Amino acid sequence: MLGMQPAISARGVSKSFGRQRVLDSLTVDIPSGVTYCLLGPNGSGKTTFIRAIVRLLHLDGGELSVLGRPVSRVDEIYSKIGYMTQHKALYPDLTVQENMEFYAGLYGLKKQQRVDRIGELLKMVDLSEHRGRLAGALSGGMYQRLSLACTLIHQPQLLLLDEPTVGVDPRLRQTFWEYFNRLAGEGKTVLITTHLMDEAEKCQRVGYMRAGRMAAQGTPEEILRLAGLKPVLKLWLAEPERDAAQLLAQGYEIDVVGGVVQVRLESHAQIKEVLSNVSPLDMRLAEPKLEEAFLRLSEAA
Ligand SMILES: Nc1ncnc2c1ncn2[C@@H]1O[C@H](COP(=O)(O)OP(=O)(O)O)[C@@H](O)[C@H]1O
Ligand SMILES: [Mg+2]
Repeated sequence: MLGMQPAISARGVSKSFGRQRVLDSLTVDIPSGVTYCLLGPNGSGKTTFIRAIVRLLHLDGGELSVLGRPVSRVDEIYSKIGYMTQHKALYPDLTVQENMEFYAGLYGLKKQQRVDRIGELLKMVDLSEHRGRLAGALSGGMYQRLSLACTLIHQPQLLLLDEPTVGVDPRLRQTFWEYFNRLAGEGKTVLITTHLMDEAEKCQRVGYMRAGRMAAQGTPEEILRLAGLKPVLKLWLAEPERDAAQLLAQGYEIDVVGGVVQVRLESHAQIKEVLSNVSPLDMRLAEPKLEEAFLRLSEAA
């Protein structure tokens, strides 16, 4: 839960491949019990960071701890971690059911537990009807769904999901997100990489990675504020010039675009205040987009 020691803590973590510095003194805390989205363009080092967390590669420098242990001892807690790679990691010549049985066996689930868990997870990823299909014959999206189900089989405390929603249709994505947020509510930590901005908005925390560093991190609201983006109240007024002058005199930040008065709000609470000053014929609230915030932050970096 929030306030506890972070699930993952990185201090000045670095990794180079040849002369390319892929993680460049990366510092980040990923709190326990949240959905955390690691967002960033291709090649920014997201996968490399995840691989470092499970010690599939060795760091050149810096400190990294995972569930309270130094990463050098992460092998002691592998059973608490679920890792879904960006690449195909299932057995193509085993069926959906057999792949799940395999992972359940690997983690030592008992017979009844195995049956229950497989049933529950196949339902969640909407593959119950396809138990008998070979993994190698599944479509891209179905394969992703099976990978996710296998990753979740042992109820890991820390989930590392590298682009888990690639190829998954929007309706099922929604189910995934509800599931991830529920896991976080139970105190589990869900670290997800994605290059999709709209997915980042569904996470409790977001970290924007750029060239091996964190360019910005916080809650989606904090990131919007950091980028200087504010909700905008658009007002259609009978006398826009007079009202604009009045709002300006009151200290509001305004723009007039095509006769529409746009007020940049510090907070949503200001809507009421604005409406005590003017009586619009019509109005609309435009919320800032996380996408724009990241665009601004990467231009500024
Ligand atoms: N094992 C490796 N050997 C050489 N270069 C690598 C290796 N792994 C990753 N890279 C390079 O590191 C950069 C970051 O890769 P990656 O962490 O996969 O980024 P992301 O997941 O954000 O797309 C890329 O330029 C990639 O080519
Ligand atoms: Mg990647």
